[in-house]
Amino acid sequence: MPTDAQRMEKIVSLCKRRGFIFQSSEIYGGLNGVWDYGPLGVELKRNLKNYWWRVIVHERDEVVGMDGAILTHPEVLRASGHLGGFSDQFVDCFVTGKRFRVDEIQPQSGIVYRFAGALQRDVLPKLQGEGINVDLSSQDPIPPLRWAAVRERPPGLRLSFSVLATSAISPKRAKTTAMEFYRRRGIADPVLFGEREARVENTTRYNPENGSLLTEPRSFNLMFETHTGALDEHSSGRVMSVGPAGATGPPSEPGYSGYSGYSGHVAPLEPVKFDSTLTSSQKQPVDVKGTLEAADTALAYLRPETAQSIFVQFKNILEVSRKKLPFGIAQIGKAFRNEINPRNFTFRSREFEQMELEYFCRAEEGMRLLEYWKEQRLKFYENIGIARDKLHVLTVPDEERAFYSKGTYDIEYEFPFGRQELEGVAYRTDYDLSQHQQASGKSLEYFDEETKQRFVPHVVEPSAGVDRTVLALICEAYAEDEAPDEKGKMETRIVLRFHPRIAPIKCAVFPLLKNKEALVAKAKEIVDLLRPHMYVFYDESGAIGRRYRRQDEIGTPFGVTVDFETLGEKDAALRDTVTLRERDSMKQDRVAIKDLPSILISRIR
Ligand code: GAP
Repeated sequence: MPTDAQRMEKIVSLCKRRGFIFQSSEIYGGLNGVWDYGPLGVELKRNLKNYWWRVIVHERDEVVGMDGAILTHPEVLRASGHLGGFSDQFVDCFVTGKRFRVDEIQPQSGIVYRFAGALQRDVLPKLQGEGINVDLSSQDPIPPLRWAAVRERPPGLRLSFSVLATSAISPKRAKTTAMEFYRRRGIADPVLFGEREARVENTTRYNPENGSLLTEPRSFNLMFETHTGALDEHSSGRVMSVGPAGATGPPSEPGYSGYSGYSGHVAPLEPVKFDSTLTSSQKQPVDVKGTLEAADTALAYLRPETAQSIFVQFKNILEVSRKKLPFGIAQIGKAFRNEINPRNFTFRSREFEQMELEYFCRAEEGMRLLEYWKEQRLKFYENIGIARDKLHVLTVPDEERAFYSKGTYDIEYEFPFGRQELEGVAYRTDYDLSQHQQASGKSLEYFDEETKQRFVPHVVEPSAGVDRTVLALICEAYAEDEAPDEKGKMETRIVLRFHPRIAPIKCAVFPLLKNKEALVAKAKEIVDLLRPHMYVFYDESGAIGRRYRRQDEIGTPFGVTVDFETLGEKDAALRDTVTLRERDSMKQDRVAIKDLPSILISRIR
């Protein structure tokens, strides 16, 4: 599917210009993979979360909500499998240092060019002048003892390196990448030697952007570790680090031969170190000045998903809510993952929000409820204005599903950067509750009063990303069309066609002229009338067309204009009526002020 980088650029720029989304810590250079929502972004996000809460919790008898803590006990995450297994593999480009998640690299086929090393171009004539025959096709073009003949600086580097030429990367381009590899290692004008070539199929060992060999895959855990209680001042800053540790160091060398005859030796680089964070002694309670005030210092994690606190509180919530199976527990909240490669604006962030429902049921209902929730969730996206034909359901194949899941769907959206996951709907069996029951030693069973049986319930989980859905909403809403300017001439209009239900501002109110007191007073009366029901914006500055345009650009679905008819100056029958303009059609209707609340409420619910 073609992606649309230009469209995405326009969206990112609009988000900043109009106050939807900013890079976090921007004035200090930004924090990678972390975003702040501005005045309009926060409204959009809240509207989305409120609508999710309404349809998942308030409109259902069998679902209740909760709001769990972000700081999580390590044992919770050990039982859930996150401590041992929640890791990603990454590789680095030897030339640019760019980092990739292994599973993001598509298999490539082509010709691998392997070089034994590179010589400085200007030493070739000198060597030849001294009668040394340089054979660049050889793996060892100069007899080792003759290297001493060129004393002033390293004549070359014997370090094997390979590049891949594909249908997208020509052999010339791939060889330029190889030269860049040696250039970065001190050979200013490299001449490659010892070239060999071989055909390869479906390899993931090369950078798809420049053909460079990649480092061997390394793993790291995605969770952010921290601690509770006081630690000494020196350790406090080291506890949490963003990005895989070693991210700034260059990758260690491929095929380094350690050939002593070469003064162009590049020392093997530091192996990647994983942040060891707290030492074991730091993890112990600290005895403060020998008193009994031992600090309760303990290791903790920022939760990587909201789901675990639902499982851990299952018994408490079951008891207080007195629900019968099937029933659900819903939660909206922050989650944190130290993603290797945050990218595509907010799509993959290190701090994000989830909207998760854990829907507990009997084993025999699991597969039916999986289908049911997939359909419910698709309807949800349609109800917030995402076109059905932009949504896709991917059945996650057996080999990619968590081993405990009996079925998983990914609901995907066609973002301008490609089709990507918005939400996962998974039948997780009784795995989570069983794990916590076993690890905690506390019963998490359900007692069925009719059959008098006790068992651990199964669960179906629709798990959606708030930030991804906000991004999908903005991408879906972004449009450019034509609208008349002040003089009736057509101009390009940027418009966010948000569904009124999730639009940040529902209605803008404009007095036709700002210096006409009666118009201003009436407009402010209307603002007061609407404010208890919706977020309203009052704007009196600039020509009316400009004011409409500013609202179109942020997706305000309705505009109310107070004009001289409203004052009854031209026609008494029109007193206390206003024009109500609809953003998408730009159609204007004359309506009575007293009817405005009911007309608008019915359209924004
Ligand atoms: N409890 C199940 C779970 O967390 P997941 O597929 O890892 O499943 C669910 O996450 C949803 O959370 C994703 O579909 C996505 O919308 C959102 N999400 C996950 N990682 C994210 C990230 N790094 N940035 C933004 N959203 C993310």
